[in-house]
Amino acid sequence: EKDGYEYFMLKEIAEQPRAIADTLRGRFDTSGGIILDEVRMSDQDFRDVDKVFIVACGSSYHAGMVAKYAIEHWVRLPCEVELASEFRYRDPVLDRSTLVIVISQSGETMDTLMALRHARNQKARVLAISNTVGATIPRESDAVLYTRAGIEVAVASTKAFLTQLAACYLVGLHLAAVRGIKYADEVAAVVAELAGTPEKISQVLEAMEPVRELARRMGTADRALFIGRHVGFPVAMEGALKLKELAYMHAEGFAAGELKHGPISLIEAGTPVVVVVPSPRGRSLLHDKVVSNIQEVKARGAAVIAIAEEGDDVVAPHVDHVVFTPRVPTLLAPLLTAVPLQVFACELAAAKGLDIDQPRNLAKSVTVE
Ligand code: F6R
Repeated sequence: EKDGYEYFMLKEIAEQPRAIADTLRGRFDTSGGIILDEVRMSDQDFRDVDKVFIVACGSSYHAGMVAKYAIEHWVRLPCEVELASEFRYRDPVLDRSTLVIVISQSGETMDTLMALRHARNQKARVLAISNTVGATIPRESDAVLYTRAGIEVAVASTKAFLTQLAACYLVGLHLAAVRGIKYADEVAAVVAELAGTPEKISQVLEAMEPVRELARRMGTADRALFIGRHVGFPVAMEGALKLKELAYMHAEGFAAGELKHGPISLIEAGTPVVVVVPSPRGRSLLHDKVVSNIQEVKARGAAVIAIAEEGDDVVAPHVDHVVFTPRVPTLLAPLLTAVPLQVFACELAAAKGLDIDQPRNLAKSVTVE
């Protein structure tokens, strides 16, 4: 039940620290690999992989987009991410040494299931990340890693999405471990940092009142743009999807670098632009680029809301509102930066009096193609 929360979605947002902690718990073996829940393939099969495809729909696809950055960086394997509804129809090049990772909360999404069957027909190995034990997708896969979000009642994915991110990181680390790690020190540090993320998500959740306040004031806006670079790009896509599905607002997420190639013409005085800002530490080039994107939209009158890392004192003077999230390695940042965007969409929809848990026209599990 709702445990005193007004909506299941609020309850599920609040459960995220627990959901991530559960998903990470007891997963590491002594050699640094992770313990998968079902494995019908050998370590040798994992070592033979020469290409990774990640296939999913909706929010699960956004989790896959984040995974691509992590897997390519940690494992140095080429990795493509594709929408399940497109994957099968473009005749992807697959063989025994291809690993296809399918991500599905419900484990029953028909587009994803069809992509999985197509991949297996082409002899590719399939690893499923799912939240539903015994669902069709995990049953038909060669290996399974279950997220432990618990049942998600609200139609819009929140805790399931966050645990998919955690599971993707685990798979990336597993591949790095079984294949011989290139950046061993970095991977060990990431494992430790991952373990600390539930606490940091709690800190984000405790600081959400200004975000709610902002959302309530924005109830009259008719559209919003979300931009980011690197792993901030999929987070921007996810933030926009949440706003569309919950608040029935036209929202678009895209790579900040694309602004000048078209979307910047959408900016008018007062257009809300949400910017997912990368950490200024480490990848400062990326940070500089995002700051100049902020200046570009500000110059055209946008109302800019930035999600930035604690201690980032460069961004604040350039934007209308800034929400800070704790420090974390760049690749893990989506576990924190996605949270204010969930809260924002939920509160904005609530301010409009909409049905948060059951948005119109949507179903929790999409079992038709
Ligand atoms: C968005 C949302 C959907 C699902 C998508 C895939 O909030 O919930 O976009 O992420 O329908 O569903 P699963 O993960 O069950 O395959």
